[in-house]
Amino acid sequence: MSGPLQHYLKFFEEMGIDSIRLNLPASQHPQASRLAGKEGRGEGALGVKAGSASENVFSPPVLARAAGRAAHMREIRDDLGDCVRCKLHRHRTQIVFGAGAEHAELMFVGEAPGADEDAQGIPFVGRAGQLLTRIIESIGLKRDQVYIANIIKCRPPQNRNPEPDEIEKCSPFLLRQIALIQPRIICALGKFAAQTLLETTAPISQLRGRVFDKFGARVVPTFHPSYLLRNPAGKREVWEDMKTIRRMLDERP
Ligand code: URA
Ligand code: URA
Repeated sequence: MSGPLQHYLKFFEEMGIDSIRLNLPASQHPQASRLAGKEGRGEGALGVKAGSASENVFSPPVLARAAGRAAHMREIRDDLGDCVRCKLHRHRTQIVFGAGAEHAELMFVGEAPGADEDAQGIPFVGRAGQLLTRIIESIGLKRDQVYIANIIKCRPPQNRNPEPDEIEKCSPFLLRQIALIQPRIICALGKFAAQTLLETTAPISQLRGRVFDKFGARVVPTFHPSYLLRNPAGKREVWEDMKTIRRMLDERP
């Protein structure tokens, strides 16, 4: 089995769904037993070349660039310091700065840390985060090959929405991270990230399914993984958005 159907099934498997309903009776569906089965797939996840590198990653220029970027990212973190620029510092356990590869081609931006992220200091590690990890893996990437951050870096009390003054104080640091990483693609997770990054009040239902140009990148809004936990049917649209991202990654810049 290969092609779109395999990729679609693989996506659901990565998202933790291990069975599906086939509309045809099994007897009429020659592929049924193989579709439901989990036997090995020769070509590796999705049959895509994960992290295909046109440049030797151990060549001196590449290593120097990587070291430079890591140092620059530490500078941004140092400038943020033990931030008290907004009122959220009073409630937080720790700042959730962002995590991943400074040379990532793909960046994910969520809303704000939740309880698990506040406790661990790492974005997207709770239930929604585990789903995001599977979404990333569904397009043949690992979490450490992308960069993950949020619009704001401290957990709002009771996970309320970030307020305008908090975004205003915090977003310059996210913008510096974007400018440093220079991702080719930014996936905005959910209404809040999409509206903030794109400076619009349009609903997520109108934003997703489209690709925007901003920050020198293609911005792809999609549903937030927390929304998918409540509304699993939305995974179909997210899968469409992930295929768009995979296709754009495969186009050489
Ligand atoms: N939801 C978010 O938007 N960000 C996180 O880091 C975790 C949950
Ligand atoms: N509403 C949201 O706030 N986010 C989504 O991802 C979908 C609906």
